[in-house]
Amino acid sequence: MGVHMLQITTALPEEYREATPSQLSERIRAAKAALGPRVLILGHHYQMDEVMRWADARGDSFGLSRLAADTRDAEYVVFCGVHFMAESADILTSAHQQVLLPDLAAGCSMADMADIDQVEEAWASIGEVTDLSRVVPITYMNSTAALKAFVGRNGGAVCTSSNARRVLEWALGETADRAAAEKVLFFPDQHLGRNTAMAMGFDASSMRVWDPRRDLGGLEDVEVKASTFLLWRGHCSVHQRFRPEHVASFRDRHPGGTVIVHPECSHEVVEVADEAGSTDHIIRSVSAAAPGTAIGIGTEIHLVKRLADEHPELEIECLDPHVCPCSTMSRIDAPHLAWVLEELVEGRVRNRIRVDEATAADARVALERMLSIP
Ligand code: 13P
Ligand code: SF4
Repeated sequence: MGVHMLQITTALPEEYREATPSQLSERIRAAKAALGPRVLILGHHYQMDEVMRWADARGDSFGLSRLAADTRDAEYVVFCGVHFMAESADILTSAHQQVLLPDLAAGCSMADMADIDQVEEAWASIGEVTDLSRVVPITYMNSTAALKAFVGRNGGAVCTSSNARRVLEWALGETADRAAAEKVLFFPDQHLGRNTAMAMGFDASSMRVWDPRRDLGGLEDVEVKASTFLLWRGHCSVHQRFRPEHVASFRDRHPGGTVIVHPECSHEVVEVADEAGSTDHIIRSVSAAAPGTAIGIGTEIHLVKRLADEHPELEIECLDPHVCPCSTMSRIDAPHLAWVLEELVEGRVRNRIRVDEATAADARVALERMLSIP
């Protein structure tokens, strides 16, 4: 196996689709053993159990970015999550490390709701009505590397659902390199932006939704000038399905139960929940609950199912009985994992995620700014 491996992207070979679950397990186990410490498998909490059982480390998107930044030994990071997470891992790992995404079709529909042209255009039009030096762009981790680079170039930072409040407080506070900002352009998830701003004590009058398909986001000059938060019109279709009625139904069935939701849910849902937080937060809350507690959870179903299996002493249910999984997260499955690992054993790198150096350099600024915010 040489250092200069060939990067080839092809469809999953038929033999992996046809293999039984136990054959795949055996193949993954053997390939992982053959690769040893040369490979690190990272798994996001939404991954299916058939993948998650092989992860060397699990995390929410913040935790996984930290793990990637701290990994110095593994030659390969096999990222079991979605594209934007693997891009961030590539940006934060060293030059000698390669990041692989077992299925390149594992994207994120929310991340696709803002592209660099739209963001550049929004920035320019905001600049026509207000002083851009007092506006900070903040991108949710769920965005392409190009957007993170834009934010890095323009004095902003990345945030995740676990640190959004601290990042927004940083954005609106005075920092060493700039005076206090007056305004935040937050993309692509309007819900995380709104929920975080509301938790900080801002009310609805201080925020406006920015519609990228309309001139000046569909707003009047005066609205842009007066608002503290311009919230990009983007959402997660998995989390937007949760409704306050689901919370009400859970509470009818389980008076005294606890409701925990992800902050990508709408504000109407978050305000009737007991807690809102990242996937890691949800896991920690469940682990701390007293035996017998009923917990209704508003997040992706694979995590909810895993928590229900791991905690038979609790009554855990998904708030929406018809919730659909995150279809892109589910693209990473045992056949794809077996394939990329066996190819690595053979010296072939499949599905490498590589962010070009110019973009990576600017995006790294935004990611490292996030990692340095206490
Ligand atoms: P976390 O940052 O909470 O892991 O969430 C990532 C995500 O994509 C939620 O939909
Ligand atoms: Fe993207 Fe939503 Fe899936 Fe998270 S759950 S990866 S935000 S589509």
